[in-house]
Amino acid sequence: MGKRIIVTGGSGKAGQHIITYLLDQGHDILNLDLVPLPAPLSERVHTMRVELTDAGQVYSAFGSHFHLTEPFREPLGLVPDAVIHLASYARNMLVPDTETFRCNTTGQYNVIEAASRLGIKKIILASSVSVYGIAYAQGDIEYPSFPVDEDVDVNPMDTYALSKLCGERVARGFARRYGSDIYILRIGRIVAPEEYKEEMFDSYVKKPEEWAVHGWSYTDTRDLGQICDLAVAKAGLGFQVFNAVNDEITNYEPSTTAFLKRVCPNTPFTREFEPREAPIPNKKIRELLGFRQKHPWQRYYE
Ligand SMILES: NC(=O)c1ccc[n+]([C@@H]2O[C@H](COP(=O)([O-])OP(=O)(O)OC[C@H]3O[C@@H](n4cnc5c(N)ncnc54)[C@H](O)[C@@H]3O)[C@@H](O)[C@H]2O)c1
Repeated sequence: MGKRIIVTGGSGKAGQHIITYLLDQGHDILNLDLVPLPAPLSERVHTMRVELTDAGQVYSAFGSHFHLTEPFREPLGLVPDAVIHLASYARNMLVPDTETFRCNTTGQYNVIEAASRLGIKKIILASSVSVYGIAYAQGDIEYPSFPVDEDVDVNPMDTYALSKLCGERVARGFARRYGSDIYILRIGRIVAPEEYKEEMFDSYVKKPEEWAVHGWSYTDTRDLGQICDLAVAKAGLGFQVFNAVNDEITNYEPSTTAFLKRVCPNTPFTREFEPREAPIPNKKIRELLGFRQKHPWQRYYE
């Protein structure tokens, strides 16, 4: 049966694809964002303009009707089944660092606190593989070890990744306090369908040595929809961190292990990779949530 799901930041790049996927699975969605969804999605999902750094707005919106009808027909007092929190400054330098940190951490805190106190049983939080510290490091640095599993030490130095890490830590505390399910998605570079034919992906393939910053890994927007749906469905895992990425390395190298030994000769290995496994692997999300990617990059790039 479809669930009632609040998505924050649903009007953005990832959100539109995630909402489309969730609607296709029969879920009912309310979008909280500063800007509306474009048509035709706007005909199926209501967007409430909410400034998520304002706790009062977040609490109020979490108790809202999902649909604007005359008169209102949904019962009062319904609590959403899940919140998927995507809203964020999605990288550094969109605004000054102080503002990135303020908005991202306050928004995350407000969402986690309000959802927890209102008894919402499932919170899914968009984090980023940038917490592994390479993407926005000051200069070239090495991954601590390969594979970049969820339990490697995370010690980023940039403000965006630090803001995401703060959210992960708050989530861990609240999941412990409330005994709730809060799943962190460490999302890779999000690739929309049209981007497989664009410059960045071409460079992934033709100049692979330049793409340590993205961990030679990516996240298809539509597969991210599937991940969110699976995360909503799977109850009882408590606090979890997942690499939310696709299966394979973003180039044609036949062996991920051999490739990484060539481009990062000083980085230690904790295990061998599957032949073309992504350096930031999604083994955990496949095993615990049952994720099966539907959109391998080769299908769209070639
Ligand atoms: N784009 C990527 O490659 C990438 C990679 C890893 C993680 N992520 C994370 O995934 C999530 C979605 O990324 P995206 O690329 O779709 O971002 P996006 O910038 O396209 O969309 C973000 C949305 O959040 C909304 N928003 C921002 N601040 C808000 C606030 N204070 N109140 C209400 N709404 C607010 C924006 O209006 C926008 O619609 C983000 O949390 C981002 O950090 C993105």
